[in-house]
Amino acid sequence: MSDSAQGAGQTSTKPMPRPPGAATPRRPRPPRERGTDLEPGRSPAQLKRRTFSWVGLASVGAALGACGVRFFFPRTIFEPPTTFSVGYPSEYGFGVDSKWQSKYRIWVCRDAEKLYVISAICTHLGCTPDWVSAANKFKCPCHGSGYDAAGVNFEGPAPRPMDRCKVWLAPDGQLMVDKLVVFRVDDWDQPGAFLSA
Ligand code: FES
Repeated sequence: MSDSAQGAGQTSTKPMPRPPGAATPRRPRPPRERGTDLEPGRSPAQLKRRTFSWVGLASVGAALGACGVRFFFPRTIFEPPTTFSVGYPSEYGFGVDSKWQSKYRIWVCRDAEKLYVISAICTHLGCTPDWVSAANKFKCPCHGSGYDAAGVNFEGPAPRPMDRCKVWLAPDGQLMVDKLVVFRVDDWDQPGAFLSA
């Protein structure tokens, strides 16, 4: 049978001629033999760089994930209420009671004629003074302003007396305070600025 007769019946397996200088293809190998020799070897510095890059990427991903989670928990400041009860008048004796200073930033005070509530905010720059019972005065820790038991300034840079909060009796007889309604010294005799003792 001639060559032309064979070609008509089956595909020729003769390889195509290669251009000069072309790389010789590798012989196909089974999967278990492939791999390591196909990639060039890496130096320790390259491996270190690659590790560093992955760690960086993972950190960025973690930070973005944390931001996403934080989005669902907005930052909220839980302030105490501005209107609240401070118990019954009978709980307060003569003088200054500082038990609500840290919770509500007020002092409940009683003198011979009235019961009133002082807003514990220094009129200089807004710090919280402390009641110093031994000296019978309020003393501001920031710049040294001093106030007497009525909240009237007498030393330091405070420009005026401390304000008083609105106070009234609830139907059940408890003392109610509204910190958002305050009375400056000129209004201390107004209704709401005190209760008769
Ligand atoms: S803030 Fe109180 S003395 Fe300055």
